[in-house]
Parts: sequence; structure tokens; C-alpha cells
Amino acid sequence: MKLFLDTANTEHVAEIAAWGVLDGVTTNPSLVAKEGKDGSTSSPQVFKATILEMCKHVPCVSAQVTAVDAEGMKKQGEEYASWHKNVVVKVPMTTEGLKALTYFASKKIKTNTTLIFSVAQAILAAKAGATIISPFIGRLDDQGEDGMTLIAEIMEVWAHYDFTTEVLVASTRHPRHIIDAAMLGAHISTIPYDLFKKLPNHSLTDSGIKKFQQDWEKVKK
Ligand code: E4P
Repeated sequence: MKLFLDTANTEHVAEIAAWGVLDGVTTNPSLVAKEGKDGSTSSPQVFKATILEMCKHVPCVSAQVTAVDAEGMKKQGEEYASWHKNVVVKVPMTTEGLKALTYFASKKIKTNTTLIFSVAQAILAAKAGATIISPFIGRLDDQGEDGMTLIAEIMEVWAHYDFTTEVLVASTRHPRHIIDAAMLGAHISTIPYDLFKKLPNHSLTDSGIKKFQQDWEKVKK
């Protein structure tokens, strides 16, 4: 399974990429706005610089269009795609988005369809030629539904057909989400920074290292 970092923070991308396990980054307007609180990433120019900096670290960086009409999405997406070969144009799951996805597919521009909350939406996006689809599981969990059931249903449908569209599990909230997504065979999980930092840790690893070090001190004596 590919692991992406869900962030607009370039320092966090550099830090996790240095572990050697990072395959991509997803950004969205809310993440960009969060980083821009001090004015550091709040302009379109700085957004472009942020995306280009991330492209130095990973081969797949999702940059989301903000236009709501297909023509606007096409214009914005073509501009993003011209920045770097690693840019993936993130398009919302709407009928205008489907038109834009079809256009981008015809131009061989890579896409990530965001805000997927149903299997029907997943199928439509795949048929429109999306490179990646992003079902949001945490937001379903937040309103009392079971987000992982959506992933299970999408993966079952995918097993019946030859869609090349990769399923990216988005809106992850805790380590179990990553494990369950992998067990279902989802292609990608995108993970917020704080959650990514939890993944290498286990209390038994920490106590085990401490014990090995204490015992090695005895050997040295
Ligand atoms: C990633 O592509 C999504 O935009 C992100 O995972 C959404 O996460 P949230 O539901 O925590 O905002």
C-alpha cells in the first residue's frame, strides 16, 4: 500500500520523506489555509512554491482546484499540471468535476477525485478516467456511519472490473484506519502528520530497546 501525507506543510513532508516510506502528498484548500495563518502559504504564488517544494520529495502531489465549473477546473488544472510532472490535479466529485476529469484523462493529466462518499460516486469517477479516487472515511465516521464499509464495498466492486483507478483512503483519524484499509487492499492511505508520527511507535519496542541497552551495559563491564 502506498502511504501519502495529508498536509500543506513542506517541513513535515521533508521530515517524513526522510524515513524512506513516503509515496505522495495530498493537500486541500483547508490544509493550505491552516498553514497560511501567519501569511506563509496564503497566496497563490506561495501555494505554487509549496507544491513545487513537495514535488522534490515525492512523485505524487495532489493540488486541488477551487473552481466549481468544468471550464474553470480545466483551466486551473492545466496550470497546476504545467508546474511539475509529479502534480496530480484534485477535482471535486460533482457533475462539473466529471466533465473536467474526462477532459484531463484525454490530455493524460493525472487526477484525484475528492469528496467521495458513496460507491456510485466512486464508479462514476473511475468511468470518467480518474487516476485516483478519495473516499473520506473519517467524515462518515464523524456522522455515525462506518467509513470503512464504504472502502470494503468499493474494493469489492473494483475486484469485478478492470478499473485502473487507485482507491485512496482519505480523512483517516487513527492507526486502525490505516491497518483496516491495507487489509481491504486499498491502494493508498493518506495520513495526517500527527497520525503518521504515531505509526512507528509501540510501547513494547521502547521498553525492549531500553532493556537491550541496559543488558549491553553489563556486557561492556
Ligand atoms: C485528503 O485528500 C483529504 O482532503 C483529507 O484526507 C480530508 O481529511 P479531513 O476529513 O480530516 O479534513
